[in-house]
Amino acid sequence: MPRSVRLVPVMAATTLLLALTACDDGGGPDASGAPGLGDPYFPKAGNGGYDVSHYGLTLAYTPQGNRLGGTAVVTARATEDLAAFDLDLVGMDVDEVTVGGDAAEFRRDGQELIVRPSGTLTEGETFEVRVRYSGSPRTITDSDGSKEGWLRTADGALALGEPNGSMAWFPGNHHPSDKASYDIAVTVPKGLTAVSNGELRSERTAGDGRRTFDWHSAEPMASYVATLAIGHYTVTRPTVTRTADTGAGAARNGVLPVYVAVDPSQVAAGRDVLARLPDVMEWADTNFGPYPFSSAGAIVDRPEDAAYALETQSRPVYPGAPDLETFVHETAHQWFGDSVTPKTWQDMWLNEGFATYAEWLWNEDEGGAGAQERFTQLYDHGEDEYEDLWAFPPAKPPTAAYISDSPVYQRGAMVIHRIRTTVGDDAFYDIVQGWAAAHRHGNAGTADFTAYVEQQAPDEDFDEIWADWLYGEGKPQRP
Ligand code: TRP
Ligand code: ZN
Repeated sequence: MPRSVRLVPVMAATTLLLALTACDDGGGPDASGAPGLGDPYFPKAGNGGYDVSHYGLTLAYTPQGNRLGGTAVVTARATEDLAAFDLDLVGMDVDEVTVGGDAAEFRRDGQELIVRPSGTLTEGETFEVRVRYSGSPRTITDSDGSKEGWLRTADGALALGEPNGSMAWFPGNHHPSDKASYDIAVTVPKGLTAVSNGELRSERTAGDGRRTFDWHSAEPMASYVATLAIGHYTVTRPTVTRTADTGAGAARNGVLPVYVAVDPSQVAAGRDVLARLPDVMEWADTNFGPYPFSSAGAIVDRPEDAAYALETQSRPVYPGAPDLETFVHETAHQWFGDSVTPKTWQDMWLNEGFATYAEWLWNEDEGGAGAQERFTQLYDHGEDEYEDLWAFPPAKPPTAAYISDSPVYQRGAMVIHRIRTTVGDDAFYDIVQGWAAAHRHGNAGTADFTAYVEQQAPDEDFDEIWADWLYGEGKPQRP
């Protein structure tokens, strides 16, 4: 769901548009990977010169004193010769870094952890970086005032990473364009549970009562949808059976492992909506195509633990028992955002426009207001509820502070609806499913999307939709 208030306007986007080619010295003995990927909104997010394939995190957390420590093993392939490269990490103390088992020099500079291995890595080489670190992970305040990163809760902690928060709890290539598989093993004090993405591989209790939870995500995951929730949870594992033709995803034997962790104070309030998880998943399968991940579930914390829900991969986080629309929204993000992930933060409307439109479709299918009704209502009276609805076009938020505002969500959904009314329902659902299939487990941007729609409906003219609704300033003409 949209994050509510934007508090602090920041610098103009143009000042953020840094070309990073200047840092790319193109080989030679001092070649170092760029300190950022030049994202239009977060230029320092991610790093150049390598591609991560896997994160192996082995961590321990103690709520008392907020102490996190352990090792991150990052497996990556060099995309150029590298004498040095960066990882993103804020806060925490780095105790040791090795590359390929050999001690490496390292230093910190803002969010950059700069690593200089004992020898140069060659283009194409796969290497393993091991970072041993510890400390009190930080909460990050975004330019719109939202809190992310590491949030402390009454009985533990909650890690949320959109757009930049994951660098508060593990070193990595923190940009949506570099997706990887994950193994996250977390040891917590006696009586607590540690929940993360994917499948619970094992749960062990040590002699002192501390427990280790070992989570595995096989499908590629962007670090902004990685999560970790530590606390007291009531866990249920409802059975969701899939038949092969409704798209079992990677689920084995037609049974999808589902893990739902609910703060005990939210169990009663959450019961009805969570009971609909199988229905919502089946509805989404039917409309969007096969579910992309090999497990599912939810994490429900207390309302005060976070200010917004987040589509953490395979296991969305809800601050308090969700309403059904929010539940549908985060479920839809599993296809639009988590499986098909934006190339840059400018493509955010593809996530939020689709997830918001999914709420409209759900209501329509449940016999509530139709999507056309929602569209018309927004067109005529949208500013009553969303003051800034026409403030900027969905594909061009003015700065990073605006990427979760209503033009991205509601006007983004209106773009999707305009496509639907242009092509008709049959072609529309083909486009939605085709888009999710074409970029399954990958990355795609706005230009990819408009090209895909045009290619799927060659007889239609989308110029006005793109020019006025997607990229145009101000309120478009009534369609
Ligand atoms: N993606 C979340 C949702 O709609 C909301 C959100 C949280 C968000 N943090 C963000 C959106 C940062 C954009 C940027 O469910
Ligand atoms: Zn969303």
